[in-house]
Amino acid sequence: MAIRNLRFEGDEILKKKSKDVEVIDEKLQTLIDDMIETMHKYNGVGLAAVQVGILKRLIVIDLYDDKGPVVMINPVIIKTKGEHEVEEGCLSFPNQFAKVIRPEEVIAEFTDRNGKRKKVVAKELLAQAIAHEVDHLNGEVFMDKIIPGTLEYVEPEEK
Ligand code: NI
Repeated sequence: MAIRNLRFEGDEILKKKSKDVEVIDEKLQTLIDDMIETMHKYNGVGLAAVQVGILKRLIVIDLYDDKGPVVMINPVIIKTKGEHEVEEGCLSFPNQFAKVIRPEEVIAEFTDRNGKRKKVVAKELLAQAIAHEVDHLNGEVFMDKIIPGTLEYVEPEEK
């Protein structure tokens, strides 16, 4: 496994739409493992492939609970319920946090890394993470939808 280079604010690739994953092969499995490792290294709760420069519809999410990292290939949000204001950040926008409106619940379909199509009813942070990462696959970033006046810069902690 390896840490991949992150793409940051201002990189044009973040505005591009990702393409469906056609085959789940060894190369994709390596990418998945690398994305999980990269997300963990930077303490992210989610990462989309485009953020490591690969325009494929692939996201990884880890809420650091007992479920472990979740891998979603070709995720599709089929329904959302409710809306609320939440605090959000993004590994492509280090040390910047702002409020955005996100659905309270997201029903999504995706293919797992074993090729099985699954459906998830996600609430709260998982719903927010799925919405945020699927936005990345469509070339959208959270900074474009922040509630004006809520942007904060937080100094990184020494490690
Ligand atoms: Ni992000």
